[in-house]
Amino acid sequence: MDHHIVTSSALHITLILLTICKGLSGATFTFMNKCGYTVWPGILSNAGSTPLESTGFELPQGGSRSFQTPPNWSGRFWGRTGCTFDPNTGQGTCLTGDCSSNQIECNGKNAIPPATLAEFTVGSGVQDFYDVSLVDGYNLPMIVEPNGGSGSCLSTGCVTDLNQQCPAELRVDSGQACKSACEAFGSPEYCCSGAYGSPDTCKPSVYSEMFKAACPRSYSYAYDDPTSTFTCTGADYVITFCPSLTRVSLPLACGIRTGNCCGRQALVKNLRETFLHQQAQEMGLKQDQAKG
Ligand SMILES: *[C@@H]1O[C@H](CO)[C@@H](O)[C@H](O)[C@H]1NC(C)=O
Repeated sequence: MDHHIVTSSALHITLILLTICKGLSGATFTFMNKCGYTVWPGILSNAGSTPLESTGFELPQGGSRSFQTPPNWSGRFWGRTGCTFDPNTGQGTCLTGDCSSNQIECNGKNAIPPATLAEFTVGSGVQDFYDVSLVDGYNLPMIVEPNGGSGSCLSTGCVTDLNQQCPAELRVDSGQACKSACEAFGSPEYCCSGAYGSPDTCKPSVYSEMFKAACPRSYSYAYDDPTSTFTCTGADYVITFCPSLTRVSLPLACGIRTGNCCGRQALVKNLRETFLHQQAQEMGLKQDQAKG
């Protein structure tokens, strides 16, 4: 009888673990800050998606933090820089990527351009869609790397410091961010609006081409879809601010989708695969840059 109870509880625990590992089909997002400064990530869930446990937080230099999304979550991530929040009132603003919430949490507020954006649609059971967009301008280097998953699962983003290459007419004040041509000039041909509101009529501009040359996998203007949207099924994702090309390190990506919760061996295997994958991706990005 006792033996039976033990077996049955063991079975229950196994079933619960299996449910946790396989049943939740949201993705785990891990943010890493490799910048030489603090970044305050902002998170905006799309209408109809449950907000994540934070909508904005402080990520110190060298820090990392993970979030689990609900199934079918969609939304965007970006990095705010140069923030100051009053320690007493919690109120404050950021130099770039500010979300006008006047506090560390963005509370459903969007990034004020210019800001490098990572956009995701988590397809629970079907493929995820993701991209890094410079359509609203650029403020800091950011890459997205899938971890595990099946399909093409390429990393994307912008490893270049575009602030260094930003033309004077797009530059923000002291050069901490670079506007899109749409933001800077507001004309329909740059914004792909009005008569230019279709992929046939809105073409790359000298400005979007400059962005594309520097960051070949990022969206450089509104209809840049074919080379800028990526898909992967069942992956977790690492989002790195200021990825370094010379220093390859192991991301602390512990995700439910990749099965890390199922045991230490899986974790080690997963980290090793991520390491090799990341090395290959970084070489790919370097080659892209050399070509650009
Ligand atoms: C997620 O979306 C898929 C495809 O649209 C759907 O089949 C599934 O039921 C959704 N899952 C949840 C938990 O909403």
